[in-house]
Amino acid sequence: MQYGYFDDERREYVITRPDTPLPWINYLGCEAYFGIISNTAGGYSFYRDARLRRLTRYRYNNAPYDLGGRYIYLRDADSGKFWSPSWQPTRHELQNYECRHGMGYSIIGAEYNGIEARTRYFVPLGENLEIWQLTITNRRTAPAKLSAFSVVEFCLWDAQDDATNFQRNFNIGQVEIEDRVIYHKTEYRERRDHFAYFACSEKTLGFDTQREAFLGPYRGWDNPKAVECGNLSDSVANGWAPIGSHQVSVELAPGESKQIVFVLGYHENPRDQKFDPQGSQVINKRTVKPVIAKYLKPESADRAFDELKAYWESVLNICRVDTPDVHTNRMVNIWNAYQCMATFNMSRSASFYESGIGRGLGFRDSNQDLLGFVQMVPARARERIIDLASTQLPSGGAYHQYQPLTKRGNNDVGSNFNDDPHWLIIGVAAYLKETGDWSILDEPVPYDNQPGSETALFEHLQRSFQYTLDRLGPHGLPLIGRADWNDCLNLNCFSDTPGQSFQTTTNKEGKIAESVFIAGLFVLAGRELAEIASRRGLKSECERYLNEVQQMDQTVRKYGWDGEWFIRAYDDFGNKVGSKECKEGKIFIESQGFCSLAGIGLEDGLAQKSMDSVRKYLATDHGIVLQQPAYSQYYLHLGEISSYPPGYKENAGIFCHNNPWVIIAETRLGNGDAAFDYYSRINPSARESISDLHRCEPYVYAQMIAGKDAPTHGEAKNSWLTGTAAWNYYAITQWILGIRVDHDGLRVAPVVPGSWRGFTATRKFRGVTYHIEVIREGTGNHVELIVDGRPVEGDLIPVPPEGTTDVHVKAMLRAAKTAVRS
Ligand code: BGC
Ligand code: NOJ
Repeated sequence: MQYGYFDDERREYVITRPDTPLPWINYLGCEAYFGIISNTAGGYSFYRDARLRRLTRYRYNNAPYDLGGRYIYLRDADSGKFWSPSWQPTRHELQNYECRHGMGYSIIGAEYNGIEARTRYFVPLGENLEIWQLTITNRRTAPAKLSAFSVVEFCLWDAQDDATNFQRNFNIGQVEIEDRVIYHKTEYRERRDHFAYFACSEKTLGFDTQREAFLGPYRGWDNPKAVECGNLSDSVANGWAPIGSHQVSVELAPGESKQIVFVLGYHENPRDQKFDPQGSQVINKRTVKPVIAKYLKPESADRAFDELKAYWESVLNICRVDTPDVHTNRMVNIWNAYQCMATFNMSRSASFYESGIGRGLGFRDSNQDLLGFVQMVPARARERIIDLASTQLPSGGAYHQYQPLTKRGNNDVGSNFNDDPHWLIIGVAAYLKETGDWSILDEPVPYDNQPGSETALFEHLQRSFQYTLDRLGPHGLPLIGRADWNDCLNLNCFSDTPGQSFQTTTNKEGKIAESVFIAGLFVLAGRELAEIASRRGLKSECERYLNEVQQMDQTVRKYGWDGEWFIRAYDDFGNKVGSKECKEGKIFIESQGFCSLAGIGLEDGLAQKSMDSVRKYLATDHGIVLQQPAYSQYYLHLGEISSYPPGYKENAGIFCHNNPWVIIAETRLGNGDAAFDYYSRINPSARESISDLHRCEPYVYAQMIAGKDAPTHGEAKNSWLTGTAAWNYYAITQWILGIRVDHDGLRVAPVVPGSWRGFTATRKFRGVTYHIEVIREGTGNHVELIVDGRPVEGDLIPVPPEGTTDVHVKAMLRAAKTAVRS
C-alpha cells in the first residue's frame, strides 16, 4: 500500500494521509541554518551544529512519535473547536490532508469543518531563518471567525545539556518580547552572543513564552489550555521551559483567504555590541530588526521561495537522465541527488534516527559523501576536504569525527579506525576528476588543526597511504585497528561489560587482527594516488605506489581468498572471519564488493566467482545482506556486530551502503543485468508500493533494510543519513549509466540491462554541457562514440576547444570486445 505519490513535475513527494508508518521527513536549509520537518510538522531547527546550536526542542522516541515541531492551531470562535492543520499534535480527522515534501521546503495542510489551512515552510538561501507561510481559506458558505496560534518550544542551545541538566536548565530560561517579536535569549546574559527570535506578520491578540502557561498543568501539545480557552496570557518565561506562541484573530468571508507569515530565526551580535543600551541586559536588535521586517512581508517570502526553487533547478540540472526506468529517472534527477545534499550537510548528525547529539561529521562518512555531492557545489566540497584533512593526525591517521561548529576532532571517539585515512584519497580524487582543480593539492593544511604543522594537501594523501604500510599484520594485510568501514566488527575490543563502548574500548594490542576490506580499499586508493602522483610528475612515487598496490593485490590472493569468495578479516587469534571455516559469518559483502570494485581478480575470474557467491549466499529480494549466516549469539572476539539480533544492522541486515559496491563490481565485470537488478531491489521509489512493509520514506534511501534472518525482513530503518545515498548515486550515474568523470575528461561507458534500447542524458562538466544519447545496437557493452558528428576511439570524450559550451555525443553499444572496464 502507498501513503502518497511522486509528483515528478514539481519535484515533490505528496503524502496523502498523515498516519504514515513512521514520520516521513524532509530537510529545510542547505547552508548553515537547518531543520528537519516531518509530514505532520514535527521536527526542529539548528544553526550549523545540531548539538551545540539547537534552536527548538524535539522529543526523540516519544509516544506517540514525532512530538515537538512547528505547530499551528486553529480555533473556531463560535464552537470553541480547535485543531491542527498538520494533523499533529491534536490528530483530529482532517479532509484533503496533504504534505508536499519538495526540494528544501514542505507544504503541509488540510481542511477541517470547511476551513482550509496550508503552511509552506522553508529556509531562504543565505539567511539564518525559516519562514512559515500560513494560508487560511474559508470554504464555508458562512463567514468564519477564527484564532490562529503558532507555537515552538525553544531548546537551551546545547541539545545534550538541554535533555539532561534539569537542575540548572529549569532556572536559566530567559526571553524578551518587543514589537510582537519573541526573543529567546537564554545564556545571552553571560557567554553567548546569539539568540533566537520568532515573529509574526500580523497584529497579535497575545503571546505566551512559558510552556506551562500555554499548555496548562499536566496537559500535552494535543490539548493546550490556552488554545482551548481561546486566549494566550502574555506569559513571560523566567526559567522552566521557554516557548514562543502568537495568537492572531482571523475573520474570513466565504471564499476569502488570508496569509500569515511567521519567521523563526537565529542571530549573532558582535561580543562588544550585545546589549542596547550598552551596560543594560537588553538585546541589541539593530541588525536583526531589518531582517525580520523583510521576511515578514509576503512578497519577500515569495521572492525568497522562488530563489530557492531556482537554486535547486540549477543544482539538479547538472546531471539529468531519461532512461526506460521511471524509478531510475526520479532518483537520479530528483531525490537521490537531493539526499546527497542532505548527507553532505548533515553527515550522520541529525535525522529521525540520529539525535543530533553524538555523531558530528564522520571522517570516512563525509569523504564518501563527496562522491555524490562534488558535482553539485564544488566549492563547498573543496572546503569540506580542507576541513577534513585539517583533522588528520601527523601519523596519517584521522579523528573519526569532528564537530561542525568547532571543526575540531572529537577526542571522545578518537582515532585508529584504520580505514579512515584512505577515504581522504578517494574524496580528493573524486574532487580532482570532477573539477580539474589541481591547486587544491598545494593548499597548506594543518594536522590536528595545529597552527604551524601545515603541509601541502598532497602530503596528507601520502601520509594516508603510508599509514597502512606502517601497520601491516602477520599476513601482510592491513591491521584493522578499532574497526574498518564496519564499525561493528570490533576485533580488538573483547568487551564483557554492559554499556561499554565497542568502538572506543580497545583492550588488545592490535598487532594481529587484519582486514581484507582495508586491503581492497588500499588497492583502490593506492591506484588513485599513483595516478595523482604521476600527473604531478612524481614518476618514482607513482611506481612505488603501484608496487605496493601490486604487492597488496598478491597478498589478498594469497591470504584473502577462500576458494569461492574473499575472506573478511583475521581476528586477534589469527583465525579467519568470513570463511567457510567459520561456523557463522562465513561470507561478508564488504570484501566481495570492495576487492572486486577495486579490480582485484577482475581478469582471472576471482571477482566473478566472488559475485557468484554474493548471488548465491547474500542476495535477497530486498537487497544484499551484509553476511551469512547471521551471528546467533554474542561473540566476545567479534564485538558489536554480534550484539545485534540476527538480520538487523551489521548482523546480516541489508546494509544498503555496501550494495552499490557489488553493483559497481558487477559493472566492472560487464554484467549490466545483475548490476541494475541489485540497484532496483533497494531503490526506494521501486519499493513505494510496499510502503507498509518498507515503512520508511519511499523517496530516500535508508541505512538498513532488515535481512532475511529478521522477523521483519524487508522493513527499512535509519533513513536519510547514510552513505547509501552517495554510493548509489555514484553507482547508477557513473557505472551503470556509465557517465564517468575522469582526470582527462568525461567517459561514456554504460553497462545497462540488455533489454534497454538506450537512454539520453545531459551532464554539465567543467563548464560544458554534454548531451548524450546512448543507443543499443548489439548485445554487449562495447562503446563506439560519435562526438559532434565525428567518430572517436575509446570511451573518453576528448576535451573540447576553449569556449565550447555544448557537446553532442552519440554512444552506440555493441557486442563486447572486452567485459572488463577500467
Ligand atoms: C552502528 C553503526 C555505526 C556506529 C557508529 C553502531 O552502533 O551499528 O552502524 O557506524 O554505531 O558509532
Ligand atoms: C554507519 C557509520 O556512519 C559508518 O561510518 C559505518 O561505516 C557504517 N555505519 C557501518 O558500520
